[in-house]
Amino acid sequence: MKIIHTCHSLIEEINKLREQSPQTGFVPTMGALHNGHLQLIKTAREENDIVVCSIFVNPVQFNSALDLEHYPRNPENDIALVKNYCDILFMPSVAEMYPRPPQEEYHFGLLEATMEGQYRPGHFNGVAIVVKRLFDLVQPDIAYFGRKDFQQLAIIKQLVHDYNMKITIRSIDTVREDDGLAMSSRNRLLSPQARSVASFIWQTLCKAQLLKKEKNPREISHWIQEQFNGHKSFSLEYAQLVNAETLEEVNEYNQAENIVACVAVWLDKVRLIDNIMIK
Ligand code: PAF
Repeated sequence: MKIIHTCHSLIEEINKLREQSPQTGFVPTMGALHNGHLQLIKTAREENDIVVCSIFVNPVQFNSALDLEHYPRNPENDIALVKNYCDILFMPSVAEMYPRPPQEEYHFGLLEATMEGQYRPGHFNGVAIVVKRLFDLVQPDIAYFGRKDFQQLAIIKQLVHDYNMKITIRSIDTVREDDGLAMSSRNRLLSPQARSVASFIWQTLCKAQLLKKEKNPREISHWIQEQFNGHKSFSLEYAQLVNAETLEEVNEYNQAENIVACVAVWLDKVRLIDNIMIK
């Protein structure tokens, strides 16, 4: 595996590899890698000739300076974890990705107006800025993203569509800890006490899924809200049942073919998100 820090060398190296074996898979990350990331990378390895992974804590997608400062970083561990699966690991500096402050503005309509977009203004513009730049550099055939970030996935599919990029977006199931907690780089910020109750998120979503026989989507989202509001360790940001394609909130089952329940909660000053398919 080659570790590359500049855009120039990245393009050069990919072009060299592509001469022999064209199909390229790409896994963009912000590092602090866990088994969820590894699952994306292993799938990319199985499906492509060349595998490129990037690690870049993208400052423009953070809407709080404190959150950016505390975001976990563990480059040595990351390198050890991916070295057997990737051909290229791209680890640019902020100055390399953004020689001057980025000016691009992306708009995704309702896809960005709700949930994460509502509580983290500017977040998806920052995600789109970096993903578009990385896609332009790597020019992958397939790019891999986890379903935990359900709204991000929808935004990235829209980005690819809007700019006519010839990239297939592959979404991979959320990988969970034994107790059901969705793997996330942010989990390592949880205190032992918070970690011991964190599985409540997934347990609540699983119970919500079972309620579909007796409650409509609006009632289920209220039920989820009540569960978190009744638990002293959690502060709920949102719990919504949305159309899995448009992300519009749904009240009745006939309003969407596929319905997903999405939640964002604060636990011990750590913000966690998760989701489950309801229909
Ligand atoms: O999901 C992430 O880790 C990030 O949002 C991404 C897609 C790598 C962009 O910085």
